[in-house]
Amino acid sequence: MYTVPKLIDFSPAALDSAVRELLSALDQESAAVGSENDWKAFRDRWMARKNGILTQLNDLWLKAAPGPNKRDVGQRVNELKAKVEQAVDATLARIQSGVSSGKLAAERLDITLPGIRRPLGAEHPVIKTMNEMIGVFRNLGYSVEEGPEIETDFYNFEALNFPPNHPARDTQDTLFIAGQESKPLRDRLLLRTHTSPVQIRTMQKMKPPVRVVCPGKVHRNDALDATHSPIFHQIEGLAVDSNITFCDLKGTLDHAMKAMFGSSVKTRFYPSFFPFTEPSADVQISCIFCDGKGVRDGAPCRNCKASGWIELLGCGMVDPNVYGFVDYDATKVSGFAFGMGVERIAILKYGVDDIQLFFQGDVRFLEQFG
Ligand code: DAH
Repeated sequence: MYTVPKLIDFSPAALDSAVRELLSALDQESAAVGSENDWKAFRDRWMARKNGILTQLNDLWLKAAPGPNKRDVGQRVNELKAKVEQAVDATLARIQSGVSSGKLAAERLDITLPGIRRPLGAEHPVIKTMNEMIGVFRNLGYSVEEGPEIETDFYNFEALNFPPNHPARDTQDTLFIAGQESKPLRDRLLLRTHTSPVQIRTMQKMKPPVRVVCPGKVHRNDALDATHSPIFHQIEGLAVDSNITFCDLKGTLDHAMKAMFGSSVKTRFYPSFFPFTEPSADVQISCIFCDGKGVRDGAPCRNCKASGWIELLGCGMVDPNVYGFVDYDATKVSGFAFGMGVERIAILKYGVDDIQLFFQGDVRFLEQFG
């Protein structure tokens, strides 16, 4: 620790060396200050009236200097006084700015740097499409129901009138939870392959009139390619009341397709089969790429395979057998149901050419929907 030496030699060279020593001690002690308390001790050690280093300089150097050297010594002591005061101020400023000598340059606060900006998120195109479709049906008075992704065979198949050996129950198509063999078939767990089981759950807890849409994730044992994914999304619809006819089904879906794809879109109902509807239909819309002409830019339209129509969803009148599973009186009520793939609609609406893009999480794809 530095102490102020008594001077015997007052020659300029001796004074130079004493001043150098003192300044180097000042530097070192300033650099060692790491806190406000350190700084107070540092200040007092150098500047306290009683016995601070500056006071000692007065006594040990200035007062002790012989007459001819007084001027020189006085000047140097004055300069030192200014330097000490400056060092004490600068040390405090350093402490208060949070930069202690031990901190890395990288830890210093650079207030000229731009702030941290949180990038704005975008609704995922699948969710966006889902919400749009739900909005169309909300406006028609439908409410939203959800069901579990892990279902029993009963809800996914049996209550929807699938016969016991229907191929959809095969492990080729359906992902079953392992170790369920000891349970009766209807209690075995599986990943739901469609949102239709929510129809059953809804009818079990609500009496007619029922108007619901059921959005959600579904799973199939499919290999992935540009148009297939083992996970995808569906929206189910169900309307049950007295006197619901196929006309209501046609009008409702025609309206929904126009609301989604534009009012010039036409719909066509094509005979089909589903175990839980009778009669059943596939709904096609006029091709939105070639306006239903089948030809675009002088070449056959690739999107509709030149047919002018694109198949979009399945539907039908609820099969009376289904009412038997939920305690509805099939002689008093009637209804329709439909189910559509959300990715398929999003692919058409946004011109996406690979279903995988929805699940890869690449922000360059996703941020385009912001
Ligand atoms: N569940 C069917 C599927 O996944 C879609 C479907 C067709 C749902 C007809 C329905 C319906 O409600 O009436 O392929």
